[in-house]
Amino acid sequence: MTETMPGPAEKNAHAVTGAFGFSGKYLARRLLDAGERVVTLTNSPQRPDPFAGAVEARPLDFGDVKALSASLADVSVLYNTYWVRFKHPRFSYTQAVRNTLTLLEAARAAGVERVVHVSIANADTESPWDYFSAKGHLEKALAASGLNYAVLRPAVLFGPEDILINNIAWALRRFPVFGLFGDGEYFIRPIHVDDMAALMAEQGKSREIATVNALGPEDLRYKDIVALIADALGKKRRYVRLSPKAALMACKAIGLLVDDVFVSEDEITALMAGMLHVPGAEAAGGAALSTWVREQSADIGRVYHAEMDRRTDRSKAY
Ligand SMILES: NC(=O)c1ccc[n+]([C@@H]2O[C@H](COP(=O)([O-])OP(=O)(O)OC[C@H]3O[C@@H](n4cnc5c(N)ncnc54)[C@H](OP(=O)(O)O)[C@@H]3O)[C@@H](O)[C@H]2O)c1
Repeated sequence: MTETMPGPAEKNAHAVTGAFGFSGKYLARRLLDAGERVVTLTNSPQRPDPFAGAVEARPLDFGDVKALSASLADVSVLYNTYWVRFKHPRFSYTQAVRNTLTLLEAARAAGVERVVHVSIANADTESPWDYFSAKGHLEKALAASGLNYAVLRPAVLFGPEDILINNIAWALRRFPVFGLFGDGEYFIRPIHVDDMAALMAEQGKSREIATVNALGPEDLRYKDIVALIADALGKKRRYVRLSPKAALMACKAIGLLVDDVFVSEDEITALMAGMLHVPGAEAAGGAALSTWVREQSADIGRVYHAEMDRRTDRSKAY
């Protein structure tokens, strides 16, 4: 008997990469609430399932484009959150680009109607930061792929499971002195993870090709973000300015303490160069970080959020 691809009538599933992870979880929840059939492509099917079986887990097997394509056979919209945060002996941007191209090829072969792809603010093939240039290359590849797509460009996501904001709070809770990267005057434009999910779901309904900044309502200086978190936690701290080199040494020392990459060298320098800010861009999300931090002050930073732990122990929830 020959297997047949589902016809258009059955092609109604929404596939979310990493639905047991961070942004993918919020997106899957929104899609389920909207009555959609949701599947996830993941290499972590053993993480706790927040959807009580309502989201079918399928392998995100980058080594087998045919199997990946078969996993997408009944999918109308693919939402791609897959990426790696930094370079590491176990993963790289080159590999992440190759894997994403495989996923896009599988989507094209499966006849997926729409790809909603998460990129980064200021993605640019010419960027000196590999994260941003690799994302820029993927945006170009998507545009040339023949797929119908939307690109969403967030700067920083915040929410209960986030890493950057939580770990600033974690450091403020523990250390009497806080090291700012440089003068801390550079701006950041964070968006709440559920606003990001809403934007992704909205783009999943459209068939208009689009590249959209996914930014929250507040333009905040880094030093003001640190100050508002300290204020919400009721912590009076001494602030010192660190050169990028000194900041990296401090981050490496903290990394040893928590067995993680606390903040990478590229993250420090990109942050200081204002790469997580798009001057004059319209807000796409409504939740303000300053309000959220005050609301969450009892919880944020109580526990350190470790990127490497998420990568090595795939049976734990974020
Ligand atoms: N978080 C932010 O502040 C932020 C800011 C700007 C842009 N973004 C972009 O937003 C997207 C989603 O970010 P997120 O924070 O929500 O991500 P996430 O949930 O931590 O991860 C998303 C997906 O990528 C996979 N993944 C992550 N790191 C990996 C690694 N080192 N090796 C293999 N697979 C890996 C996860 O795998 P499993 O399913 O196996 O867990 C998951 O499927 C990404 O494209 C990111 O570049 C995020």
